Amino acid sequence: MDTRSRWLLVSSLALSLLAGCGAADLADIDPQAIPEQPTYAELVGPMMHFYCSGCHAPKTQLGPNLAGYDYSSYSGTVAGFSGIEETVFERGDMPPGGATKLSLVEMETLRKWQQLGFPQ
Ligand code: HEC
Repeated sequence: MDTRSRWLLVSSLALSLLAGCGAADLADIDPQAIPEQPTYAELVGPMMHFYCSGCHAPKTQLGPNLAGYDYSSYSGTVAGFSGIEETVFERGDMPPGGATKLSLVEMETLRKWQQLGFPQ
């Protein structure tokens, strides 16, 4: 399975897990849905590409490294992780507007990645 289809599989797993839950919180997640060894190459990079780097990258229509964040590379994502914590985990305002937000499983995958020391 290539990275993209694996990621789609994880995402759809997450969606089916969350479907039917009202106010979703951590207690609603099957801990097994969270990958044990998430890496940048396999999961985090594709996630950032899907949700963030359309706007936060060296070259976008909105300008270079919007708000000072580059989520199109490994180093930029590690350097900007505090921005993910603030806008995704705490405020829930990125990606902005009506864009699809990260699922709880995706957020926990990012936290796990951080706990493991940002494996490449
Ligand atoms: C559709 C474009 C778009 C997407 C996609 C997007 N952002 Fe943003 N982001 C913006 C804009 C515009 C700003 C600056 C204006 C603002 O602060 O609202 C911003 C600001 C930020 C900031 C700085 C906020 C602050 O208070 O200083 C962070 C951190 C950030 N985004 C993280 C992310 C992350 C992480 C993702 C993916 C989960 C993401 N953004 C996806 C458009 C986007």
